Amino acid sequence: MNKQLIAFVLLFFFVNVNSQNINNQDSLFNRIGGMPTIERLTTDLVKRLKKDDKLGFLFEHTDEKDFQQLLTAQICYETGGGCQYIGLSMSDAHSGMDINSREFDEFVAIFIESMEHVGINFTNQNRMLKIFAPMRKDILNK
Ligand code: HEM
Repeated sequence: MNKQLIAFVLLFFFVNVNSQNINNQDSLFNRIGGMPTIERLTTDLVKRLKKDDKLGFLFEHTDEKDFQQLLTAQICYETGGGCQYIGLSMSDAHSGMDINSREFDEFVAIFIESMEHVGINFTNQNRMLKIFAPMRKDILNK
């Protein structure tokens, strides 16, 4: 291969890999409506969590804005929106809370209510759950 061809192949891979990783057209991020939807989703989620009968006590001292921003960055990152998540790992964030499976299920139910509220369709709700459900093991009884 001559140098020009190698440069072309490298450029092709670079552009291709980048467009796949950073907010590509088919990303879940775009399918759900991008940042405006995620902002509305996390704002609604934090409000619901705070006033929930079973989980509200955990969020009594939570700064709504900080928590909402961390969730926004995390969801944007996980759905392929190209954001950076600089919050704690799921294991560290939930350590000492001793969250049990019933509490986790309640959290998921509230998350679904929020997704419903902001108009995320059933298929995309399932895609979201597929991303976040595996975090369960890092969150339970820490
Ligand atoms: C997949 C599910 C979950 C995700 C993606 C998630 C995400 C997060 C994130 C991003 C933070 C902030 C981390 C930081 O401070 O840097 C956090 C904190 C927290 N999470 Fe979760 N979480 C999940 C499940 C749960 C569950 C099931 C509970 C309780 C039942 C819970 C309770 C909390 C509490 C109390 C905080 C601390 C809020 C504060 O700063 O006061 N989380 N979570």
